[in-house]
Amino acid sequence: MQSNIIDGRAISAAIKEEVREQTRALKEERRIVPGLAFLLVGENAASQSYVRSKERACELCGFHSTTVTLPATASEEEILARVDNWNIDPDIHGILVQLPLPDHVDEDRVIESISPLKDVDGFHPVNVGKLVIGQEALLPCTPAGIHQLLLRSGIETAGKHVVVVGRSNIVGKPIANILLQKAAGANAVVTVAHSAAGDIAAYTRQADILIVATGRVNTVTADMVKDGVVVVDVGINRVEDASREKGYRIVGDVDYEGVGAKAAAITPVPGGVGPMTIAMLMQNTLNAARRAADGR
Ligand code: GUN
Repeated sequence: MQSNIIDGRAISAAIKEEVREQTRALKEERRIVPGLAFLLVGENAASQSYVRSKERACELCGFHSTTVTLPATASEEEILARVDNWNIDPDIHGILVQLPLPDHVDEDRVIESISPLKDVDGFHPVNVGKLVIGQEALLPCTPAGIHQLLLRSGIETAGKHVVVVGRSNIVGKPIANILLQKAAGANAVVTVAHSAAGDIAAYTRQADILIVATGRVNTVTADMVKDGVVVVDVGINRVEDASREKGYRIVGDVDYEGVGAKAAAITPVPGGVGPMTIAMLMQNTLNAARRAADGR
């Protein structure tokens, strides 16, 4: 089967362009500039690089952004005080505390200190609860991005069997809940398989749409899917590759060649789900700014 490659880079660029245009209109018509605040704690190189990418996206979209970096020794109280300042700052519509935080800090307590109206990561229990019961909420960026990939690729989800492999709070649980809702681009029958399932293949073979987020290379191979499946690969894994300058390459959780040969459509890694996360962060921040302006 000739599978369609779902181009996350192109879809992400289109969303950022829409956000940029809508931000321009919001500025012109209502004098509002969406503002996003980043908190980095410690010197984690990956976290610093992620935040730089998010700052660049803010610039592209015409947002105001500010980054505060605290030392790894910062106390939980210092972090909470920083978040509290932004919670009451009318120029800040989104707050992103880059995770992971140092071990001595209670991440849940920090996440819960963010105003749910400014929780552009969609990690606050109020937003998680609203998602589950189908109320308007700020949705976590990676699953919101997967939803957009499916919608914008014209993939029918209503009545289809979506199998999610992985039950993380960041991807597996929220994407299952998004696609379960009785809403456009959703309304699917959803199964969540995970590490306690003895025979993962017994679940994945039933999938019309298969979403894999385990963080494990080759979680899904060709013998584990049916012909015509749509595959969304959320994994980002480094594997050794002496032929590459860096000595490694990035692969997903799915055997791309084998599964791709049977799939109707598949997301590549890199260039599939990855670029969508930042686009949805921009969309969430714009939505939060609009809602603040409407007093909702
Ligand atoms: N660390 C890795 N991914 C994320 C993310 O999406 N949000 C935050 N806040 N931290 C992260």
